[in-house]
This record gives sequence, structure tokens and C-alpha cells, in this order.
Amino acid sequence: MRDSKIKPAGSATLTFKDKNYTLPAFSGTEGPEVLDIRKLYGEADVFTYDPGFTSTASCESDITFIDGDKGVLLYRGYPIDQLAEHSNFLEVCYLLLHGELPNKAQFTKFDNSITRHTMVHEQLAQFFRGFRRDAHPMAIMCGVVGALSAFYHDSTDINDPRQREIASHRLIAKMPTIAAMAYKYSTGQPFVYPHNDLHYTENFLRMTFSVPAEEYKINPVLAKALDTIFILHADHEQNASTSTVRLAGSSGANPFACIAAGIACLWGPAHGGANEAALKMLEEIGSVEKIPEFIAKAKDPNDNFRLMGFGHRVYKNYDPRATAMQKQCHAVLDEVGHGDDPLLKIAMELEKIALSDEYFVKRKLYPNIDFYSGITLRALGFPTSMFTVLFALARTVGWIAQWGEMIEDPHQKIGRPRQIYTGAALRDYVPLAKR
Ligand code: SDX
Repeated sequence: MRDSKIKPAGSATLTFKDKNYTLPAFSGTEGPEVLDIRKLYGEADVFTYDPGFTSTASCESDITFIDGDKGVLLYRGYPIDQLAEHSNFLEVCYLLLHGELPNKAQFTKFDNSITRHTMVHEQLAQFFRGFRRDAHPMAIMCGVVGALSAFYHDSTDINDPRQREIASHRLIAKMPTIAAMAYKYSTGQPFVYPHNDLHYTENFLRMTFSVPAEEYKINPVLAKALDTIFILHADHEQNASTSTVRLAGSSGANPFACIAAGIACLWGPAHGGANEAALKMLEEIGSVEKIPEFIAKAKDPNDNFRLMGFGHRVYKNYDPRATAMQKQCHAVLDEVGHGDDPLLKIAMELEKIALSDEYFVKRKLYPNIDFYSGITLRALGFPTSMFTVLFALARTVGWIAQWGEMIEDPHQKIGRPRQIYTGAALRDYVPLAKR
């Protein structure tokens, strides 16, 4: 089990209806201190109110830290730009799961375990046949990943650490296989089995883009770019989909069901669906000349249009992932010879205009990770509908690490927020004849 590491940091006094209540304060390693309100309802018969949980810490966590004002993102203390530059996705998976970078023996053991879990049960392929070929691949991911619960009964006991580890490795290993199958199904091409002699991301590219009729040649520049993109998407504190996974896990649901819940939440255009929405927005803008028209729509309070790929709940400065993503975007476009991609020109001009417009500056709206990822993924050969699937593939390790941390936290209990009730007061039933 995980010991609490928060440290006492004084207290606050709340005065409510002429009575004083003491709220203990705690501090962690970095970031704002917290006021502990766990006893407030019992002592003062009052709830706190925080729709969207913008000012609420839902848990203690050692995994990821974001400083939204400084544009800092740390995975287990390591800055995202250093990991993107020097690490690889599978090493980052180990780091997120275990808290430390692996030595050579630890990485080899982990890599071997993941590699040997990349195949899926042959029956699972039948699930795809129930979908229409034009089904959105995120719909397929929700269904097929949830169905894994029906195949792996030997790793659904969440109280057994060994079963939790096997389920974690199975999910990290099988997401690329299932994602590639979802893509193949949409094209009418046959599923491609994983190859144990390929690294994680290379294996995924081959399962996605190879055809039986010819040998598939891995492009190391593109494989490295996609591997880096996976690193950038791996975890991000208590975002909406991670909170969904934690809440589902708090009821004791098995890990496969919890990850399926996270995939469903990630699909939303305000969250992981923004990369697909951002590319569609750039295509809709169509030319640099039309950018002012869309900026005006985004600023119009009566128009619910938003610049997709802009803004963030936490980053009120640049999203450090957007910087790294833009670098990968240029590397991929140069490699595939699309350096003059018109959408890139529109994106860079849109970013320049938005960052000088008072509306965006005042609201601290900067490009987020999704702004450049769509252009990059399209240049890698993925259809727009696969963009959020790739986000889910990468985020699975973050969801699993956070889920495991929750299970091991002795303070965690089933999540059950309260509400402020504004409905009808108590009243008696009225018979039909009297209505
Ligand atoms: C991800 O949480 C995470 O960590 C998520 C994520 C992760 O890795 O898990 O980082 C991944 O989801 C990135 C975000 C992807 N979403 C988008 O790009 C969609 C577009 N962005 C917006 O929907 C919005 O910015 C959010 C949802 C991302 C954040 O919303 P907030 O913090 O709740 O901001 P808000 O809606 O309260 O907006 C504050 C103001 C409002 O204007 P006013 O009411 O003050 O006049 O800014 C405006 C908003 O209208 N605004 C935008 C805008 N985003 C906010 N105006 C135009 N375009 C935008 N994109």
C-alpha cells in the first residue's frame, strides 16, 4: 500500500454562521498547498461547491506535476522536454508505472513482458465484424477494450498486485494491436499480427500500415516522431479521462472496464477529441485569408465556436507539449516532403494572430498539445478519425499508473460527490384526474 507523503502546513479558520472551523493545511513536493475539508460536512453540515473541480485536489499523487503558469510538465520529476529528447515511450511507461527510470536489466524484462502480451485473443477479432466498416474507431475502441474484461479473468482481481501488473502490461501491450485492427477494419485490409522483433512503436506502425502483399519498411524518422508523440500524451495529472478512470476504479471495477471508461471520456472534443477537431477546423478555415473570420467567431460570446487546440484548464502559459509537438510536426513534414503543407501555414499564422489578439492574451489562451498533433498525425498517414485513438493508445499507461496508485492508496474510497439541490421541495403525489 502507498504511504501518505503530504506534510502539515498550518491551518485555515472558516467562520460560518458565527461558528469557527479549523481546516488543516497540507503541502506536497511542488504546487499549491491544500485545505483538508474531509471533516467539514460532519462538523458544519455544509458542502463545498466546485463544479468542474477547478479548485479541488481529488487525491495525492506522485506521478505527474503541471505548473500551468510556468508551462512545466514533469513525469515522476523529469521534465517532458528532456524525456521527449532523450527517452523512448516504453522507458517512459516504466517510469510512470514504477516511479524511476529503469536500468538495463529492468528495461529488458519490462520490454520482454510487454512484447509477449501484444497479441489479442483470436476471438476478439470477431468483435470488429459486428461494427460497420465506417464506424468511428473510437466507438470500436470503447467496445473492444471493454470486452477485454471477458477474456482475461485471470487478471481482474484488483486486490492482487500480480494480477494488477499483468492487467497493466496486457493493456499497454494490446492497445496498439487493437488500435491498428480498428484502422485495418475501416480500410477493409486484413489484420496484421504483431512482430516480437520490433520495438513498440515500430510494431504499431507495421500493424497499421503494412499489407501482406509486400514487405513494410519502417521509416526510423517517422517511428521516432510517433514514439515522441506517445511520450507527450502519456499522462497529465487528474484530467477528465484520468479522473474518469480513477472514479470507475474506486468502485472496484476491473482495469479493462476502467480503461474503456477513460477512452469514452477522452473522445470528447473538449478533451482528447480536440486533435481531430483542430485539424477539421484548419481544413474548414482553408486559407490564411479566412483566419480573421474564425478568430471573430471564437471571440463572439453568442457563438459557441472555439479555436480547437487552444486553451487549457491548467496551462495559462504555453503548453510545453505544444512546443515539442511543433518540433515533431516540422520533422515529420520535412521527412515526408510536406514542409509546405498549407494547413501548417494556416496553423502557424493562426497561432501568431491569436497570440497577439487581446481576447486570447487576456484569457491566457495558448496552443495546447492538440493544435499541432493533427497536422503531424495526418502527415504520418493516419486518417483524422484515428487521431484520438492514438491519444488513447499513449494515455493508457498514464491511466493505468494513476489507477494503480489509487488502488494502493489507503485513503481512497468510492468516489461519490454531493450536490447543491435546487429542485422541487417535498410535495405529495397528484392523481391523474386532478392534474
Ligand atoms: C486536452 O486537462 C487536461 O490535462 C487535458 C489534456 C490532457 O493531456 O489530458 O491536456 C488534453 O484536453 C487539451 C485541451 C483540448 N481541448 C481543446 O483544444 C478544445 C478547445 N479548448 C476549450 O474547450 C477550453 O480551452 C478547454 C476546455 C480546454 C479549457 O476550458 P476552461 O479552462 O474551462 O476555460 P473556459 O472554458 O472557462 O474559458 C475561459 C474563457 C471563456 O471566455 P469568457 O467566458 O471568459 O469570456 O476563455 C474562452 C472561454 O469562452 N475560451 C476560448 C477557448 N478556450 C477558452 N475561446 C475561444 N477558443 C478557445 N479554444
